[in-house]
Amino acid sequence: MTNPTLFTPITLRNLTIRNRVWVPPMCMYSALGKDGVPTDFHRAHYGALALGGAGLVIVEATAVSPEGRISFHDLGIWNDDQVEAFKQITSLMRNNGVVPGIQIAHAGRKASTYPGWGYDGIDGSVPVEAGGWQTVSASANAFEGYAPAHALTEEGIAQVVADFAAAARRSVEAGFQVLEIHAAHGYLIHQFLSPLTNERTDDFGGPLKNRARLLLDIVRTMRAEVGEEIVLFVRFSATDWIEGGWNEEETSIVTDWVKDLGADTVDISTGGLVAGAKIPVGPGYQVPLAHYVKEHAHLPTSAVGMITTAAQASEIITSGRADAVMLGREHLRDPHFALRAAAELGENISYGTPQYQRAPFPRS
Ligand SMILES: Cc1cc2nc3c(=O)[nH]c(=O)nc-3n(C[C@H](O)[C@H](O)[C@H](O)COP(=O)(O)O)c2cc1C
Repeated sequence: MTNPTLFTPITLRNLTIRNRVWVPPMCMYSALGKDGVPTDFHRAHYGALALGGAGLVIVEATAVSPEGRISFHDLGIWNDDQVEAFKQITSLMRNNGVVPGIQIAHAGRKASTYPGWGYDGIDGSVPVEAGGWQTVSASANAFEGYAPAHALTEEGIAQVVADFAAAARRSVEAGFQVLEIHAAHGYLIHQFLSPLTNERTDDFGGPLKNRARLLLDIVRTMRAEVGEEIVLFVRFSATDWIEGGWNEEETSIVTDWVKDLGADTVDISTGGLVAGAKIPVGPGYQVPLAHYVKEHAHLPTSAVGMITTAAQASEIITSGRADAVMLGREHLRDPHFALRAAAELGENISYGTPQYQRAPFPRS
């Protein structure tokens, strides 16, 4: 059997995604009302992506609770006002043939920070007296330069699992069809997965099964909450890029465990757990990790990271190294990347924006 191409649809459960050009979650730090509710900015930003021809757009890391936000400008999905505002974004996407996804997240010890921009010269943790909050993690330790976290108690862990389940229910109510669990980039779940940050001696620390327990509990509980129709993704950092850290072998084993509990796809990124890791950044540098997981585990696998051209994206799929590609910054440069890529590759796709038909790709 030949491999699919970039524009071959893919079906996960009963959901068909029209192509394999996907937009990964990208925090916009623009919920300015401090209440996690999407704003005009989000409607414009995701509206542009809804018209761009991608198959799936995953809305940025969205917190399960106020304490789970990276910053006080993050989106959240813990109340009904947020659900109502997200409905406008999901209907924009669905009405234009794009599958709406959302990344559900808890930042753990990397919470309560200033947004990445807009605070000239100030970054790192926001002190409690300046509106920040006490962070939590697997263990009482700190990301370099940040305030130390408190170790979650078992009751605290149960609350986090319940918060993910409630966030999943609300996300479905808001119209999302793909829910991605953020287990990457050094945020809470990754802090449990990696032996570099998890120093626990109870059922949530030590052997792989224990370090993975929080994630497994979340997948199981979310699946039970949303039923069989909704598609679940897990985003992993497949390596910490540090000797003795989390790696692609453990990622592959846990991929099969989450599959057994009802996950449908893994989204393979890397890094973010500790400062100072030496990362060989370059075009497609994370694709070999996605390929490794695809080869060693049994779930559809998506690749991400410095994929920027149609030819590069296409080759990753046709060579069978991943089942889909996500292009982040390239979609910020050009929300119509997928339409442009289809023209460059000579793909005769039937979708596009009829209102824009007098400006076709390629330029004529
Ligand atoms: C502005 C920005 C915000 C991001 N926010 C998130 C996020 O919310 N969740 C996440 O998992 N990754 C986040 N990322 C990482 C991207 O999803 C993606 O993995 C990364 O940018 C590499 O892909 P690229 O080279 O195509 O941009 C962010 C990246 C950027 C540039």
